[in-house]
Amino acid sequence: MVERIKTLEIEALAALNRAKTLADVDSVQVRYLGRSGLLTELIKNLKNLPPEEKPNFGKVLNETKVKLEAAVKEKKQLFQERNTEQKLKAEIIDITLPGEGVKRGKLHPITSTMEELVGIFSRMGFSIAEGPDIETDYYNFEALNIPKFHPSRDMWSTLWITEDTLLRTHTSPVQIRVMEKKKPPLAVIAPGRVYRRDADVTHSTVFHQLEGLLVDTDVTFGDLKGTLTAFLHAVFGKDKKVRFRPSYFPFTEPSAEVDVECVMCGGSGCRVCSGTGWLEILGSGMVDPNVFKHVNYDPEKYTGFAFGLGVERIAMLKYGIDDIRLFFENDLRFLRQF
Ligand code: PHE
Repeated sequence: MVERIKTLEIEALAALNRAKTLADVDSVQVRYLGRSGLLTELIKNLKNLPPEEKPNFGKVLNETKVKLEAAVKEKKQLFQERNTEQKLKAEIIDITLPGEGVKRGKLHPITSTMEELVGIFSRMGFSIAEGPDIETDYYNFEALNIPKFHPSRDMWSTLWITEDTLLRTHTSPVQIRVMEKKKPPLAVIAPGRVYRRDADVTHSTVFHQLEGLLVDTDVTFGDLKGTLTAFLHAVFGKDKKVRFRPSYFPFTEPSAEVDVECVMCGGSGCRVCSGTGWLEILGSGMVDPNVFKHVNYDPEKYTGFAFGLGVERIAMLKYGIDDIRLFFENDLRFLRQF
């Protein structure tokens, strides 16, 4: 019996010596000292021995157990220390390395163009107004002197939602919303998204407009010309020629389209200006008395001017971009250039 215990002890110590990992030590521990380990079984068997043999075997077994337990503990400690060392080595941080820079996003070219345009009018004293993208027939057309079934409705390829609601085709309905709430004098701009059933290299179903409206007593066409000329000079440069061309909008009378000398060819004629030397930038005009009647302004007392421009068009001219769709595809290689 003592023989057997000694052999067991030698075997166990040898197994511990061969152990290469913490898991190896664990399995030796289980094999000999576990709940049904080899040594544990012998200890359990003690009670079946004749009483006179018990003390001696008990002593030997206990000594072996204490010895093995100590050996296991020592081995475990060794591996644990080694693991910690390895971990520390692997996780070493070189604090002398330069940090990774924080990557900053930037504004979309349409946003920054819009901000620039809004900034110019803000500095002239215009305040900002907003209206909903989903409009009613009344604000988008009727109140702007465009009755139902009037041929001028064809100027806007409308995306209808119901019989009476639509996606606004221009920012002009904001003119009505502002005048319903405020009495003159007023000077507002209304930036926003507009929608049309239209899509090619220069037209997008969704695009942005900037609307302007100024109403007071004694506002003249000269005020309109002066304001818009100053604006165009601020955007394209003071050296650029500006011209006003007679036009038609149902909500302005008289109406004018405003052109700036072509920024690509300097007026000699190119592909961008279709050989004319001029770029069409804005629609504008003196507010039609019929519009004032819809908002209960006295047309005998007040006059005003309004204008509307396409933000994508200005951005395309500013950055020399020939396809409007690039603004909406949001390809990072395109956006990073701005
Ligand atoms: N709303 C017009 C358009 O979208 C532009 C415009 C605005 C013209 C204000 C005159 C006055 O075409």
